[in-house]
Amino acid sequence: MRNKEVKRYRRKVIPAAAGRVLELGAGSGLNLPFYGSQVQRLHALEPSEALLRMASRKLPGAHFPVELLRGSAEEIPLAARSIDTVVTTWTLCSIPDVAKALREVRRVLKPGGSLLFVEHGHAPDASVAAWQRRIEPLWKPLAGGCHLTRRIDRLIGEAGFEIVELENEYLKGPRPLTYTYCGRAQ
Ligand SMILES: C[S@@+](CC[C@H](N)C(=O)[O-])C[C@H]1O[C@@H](n2cnc3c(N)ncnc32)[C@H](O)[C@@H]1O
Repeated sequence: MRNKEVKRYRRKVIPAAAGRVLELGAGSGLNLPFYGSQVQRLHALEPSEALLRMASRKLPGAHFPVELLRGSAEEIPLAARSIDTVVTTWTLCSIPDVAKALREVRRVLKPGGSLLFVEHGHAPDASVAAWQRRIEPLWKPLAGGCHLTRRIDRLIGEAGFEIVELENEYLKGPRPLTYTYCGRAQ
């Protein structure tokens, strides 16, 4: 999660977050240095106590208030229509009920708010997709519940969002693990 290409995506996407921001699966806080001055407050939601502890060590460097929230994106502990931007980077793959999480994202976003995403998932090439289906049952328990076959754009669309920007590419590394969906939905 710290390699050059991943960093390139963080640098590209995270500065667009503005206002009251919710980050899903904030992990150890690797996106924190990339948020810009338009952020008023960041709610960093993460189910892992250990990762939240790591994130808490990075808070002194933040130039806006950060609230660390322990919990799942399937039940976001925030009021409806209270958030301007939701950010998710390499998290939708790991959420058990991702459709429920995306419905929750819709609930907490203000009308006109944005969902910024960088995720990996289902690849368009038949041979790569076949490998994704083959290795997913072995990969999932080894990688914190990470799914390889999720069609991220379709899932976001099915939750009632309109995708207004989308870029796809394979990053360096094994193709079944690296097909990337990067964009913005409203
Ligand atoms: C591959 S890590 C990515 C961490 C971080 N987003 C980043 O870009 O470095 C996946 C993250 O999703 C989190 N996660 C797993 N299940 C989740 C859930 N139900 N709700 C929110 N986050 C979850 C994990 O704890 C982990 O922090």
